[in-house]
Amino acid sequence: MTLLQHFLLFVSLFVLSSSELIIDVQPNVLSAEITAQLVINCSITNNQVQHLDVIRSLTLSRYNETLKEFLDLITLEAKTFNLSQLVQLHHAQISFGNLYISLTLHNPTQFDAKVYRCKVEGDKTNAANSSIVAKKEVEYRTNMTALIEEIRRLKIVEQNDQCTLENKDLTASHQRTKLHFVGSSKVIKELIEPLTLTCSLQDLDRNSTVQFMYILHVPPVSCREIISTHNRVIVKLISGLKVMCETKTDGGGWIIFQRRINGSVDFYRGWKEYRDGFGDYNIGEFYLGNENIFSLTSTEQYDLRIDLEFNNTKYFAQYENFKVLSETEKYKLQIRNYSGNAGDSLSHHNNLFFTTFDTDNDLDSRDNCARSSSGAWWYTGCHYSNLNGRWGSTSHQGMNWFHLTRNSNSVSFTEMKIREREQNYFH
Ligand SMILES: *[C@@H]1O[C@H](CO)[C@@H](O)[C@H](O)[C@H]1NC(C)=O
Ligand SMILES: *[C@@H]1O[C@H](CO)[C@@H](O)[C@H](O)[C@H]1NC(C)=O
Ligand SMILES: *[C@@H]1O[C@H](CO)[C@@H](O)[C@H](O)[C@H]1NC(C)=O
Ligand SMILES: *[C@@H]1O[C@H](CO)[C@@H](O)[C@H](O)[C@H]1NC(C)=O
Ligand SMILES: *[C@@H]1O[C@H](CO)[C@@H](O)[C@H](O)[C@H]1NC(C)=O
Ligand SMILES: *[C@@H]1O[C@H](CO)[C@@H](O)[C@H](O)[C@H]1NC(C)=O
Ligand SMILES: *[C@@H]1O[C@H](CO)[C@@H](O)[C@H](O)[C@H]1NC(C)=O
Ligand SMILES: *[C@@H]1O[C@H](CO)[C@@H](O)[C@H](O)[C@H]1NC(C)=O
Ligand SMILES: *[C@@H]1O[C@H](CO)[C@@H](O)[C@H](O)[C@H]1NC(C)=O
Repeated sequence: MTLLQHFLLFVSLFVLSSSELIIDVQPNVLSAEITAQLVINCSITNNQVQHLDVIRSLTLSRYNETLKEFLDLITLEAKTFNLSQLVQLHHAQISFGNLYISLTLHNPTQFDAKVYRCKVEGDKTNAANSSIVAKKEVEYRTNMTALIEEIRRLKIVEQNDQCTLENKDLTASHQRTKLHFVGSSKVIKELIEPLTLTCSLQDLDRNSTVQFMYILHVPPVSCREIISTHNRVIVKLISGLKVMCETKTDGGGWIIFQRRINGSVDFYRGWKEYRDGFGDYNIGEFYLGNENIFSLTSTEQYDLRIDLEFNNTKYFAQYENFKVLSETEKYKLQIRNYSGNAGDSLSHHNNLFFTTFDTDNDLDSRDNCARSSSGAWWYTGCHYSNLNGRWGSTSHQGMNWFHLTRNSNSVSFTEMKIREREQNYFH
């Protein structure tokens, strides 16, 4: 054997010995709500694994404590690159390539803190069906240092906006976790139930008061949870519905479902658009959609508040037990018990169906009131209020609120908003 052959043999042995099965997890300690993603990557370097001549498949598994065994999650056939997912994974993303499988779990939970295993199966020259495994454990740990850092980061990012104080003791609310902050020191005393947090703020003043805080990672169930320095914020609720919350009036917590401020959005629309909603949160004029209003009000007791402006004066009308029934019930309106200073121009429409220019459910047997009033409403035959009417009109086609405008003027601002009854929410 020549020196060169020796050298080549050495090199090829060296290459061979550096071929291996690797499992890489990032990070290997996860803290729920802080760890944004967990990446588990199974890979075979140099397309070879020591002691295996032919590679047949690569499999990623996860340890199941109940069964006391590894359950396969994903298998990749080496020849065909056929990838099979064997278990339903939530918030997950799988990528694979030339002999690697990479699994990314978004917002991993304590459940994902497991031992992960990579297995490569193949044949040896002398013995078929061999396998080699590599394992890594992902730990779950609540790291208070990391948590405090995250709170500080949020505080900077959110510029306190989502994180102003609420003096209320919310310890009984929902199954949310409470962090108990003592503002007078940098030490955070925690009362941690499974670590699920909502909003935050740390007041470093030595003489500040005790505060309860939440980190807004979990989407809110309701606008009632939103505390903000802004009067209105756009929020995606846990249900997935994107709403504009009104955070100030009478304690805030309102979902605005109809809003008109300057006439830039056309409200003369048909059934389907009133069903699904239209408009634009950026412009600030919109209708949330009867279907959404129906779903919201079908489960809890809601108050309805209507804020209006007319002749440079603010007015409001409030009702209890507000409901919009389902589409099969033609989005019938239900309200009770008026209060306010705008006058009661809506009770007249109680228990009536919704009418649009293309779907006539009103009490006028000859005409479609949506057409004659240029709006969409729970018309009788036709109206005492017409807040979806024509912007600025000085006729019965305008945004009338009879007790303020009669049928000869329009209000210059409307916000129709709902809020669920407090006792249903906090207890
Ligand atoms: C997984 O490992 C393979 C091989 O080392 C690499 O090509 C791939 O980019 C890795 N994927 C991730 C998400 O790290
Ligand atoms: C373990 O496996 C059982 C049976 O398939 C399943 O019901 C359970 O959810 C699994 N547990 C974990 C932690 O994966
Ligand atoms: C891929 O694997 C699945 C499960 O093992 C099998 O049912 C399917 O036929 C395979 N597809 C191809 C293209 O090999
Ligand atoms: C190896 O596995 C293949 C497929 O799983 C099977 O068909 C074959 O009989 C096995 N060979 C041995 C020697 O166990
Ligand atoms: C906790 O988190 C901090 C900052 O992220 C990190 O430096 C530290 O090593 C972590 N401690 C433990 C015990 O994981
Ligand atoms: C709070 O403390 C600051 C200095 O730490 C002091 O200037 C301020 O007057 C104190 N405020 C009250 C209300 O005690
Ligand atoms: C209405 O107000 C919105 C938001 O302030 C603005 O973007 C839009 O241009 C205004 N439209 C009109 C017609 O004034
Ligand atoms: C509007 O307000 C002004 C001043 O308060 C008053 O003089 C006027 O009559 C009001 N107009 C209407 C239509 O109410
Ligand atoms: C609220 O309205 C209902 C039905 O219209 C009525 O029976 C009840 O007395 C009202 N309650 C109050 C406090 O006005």
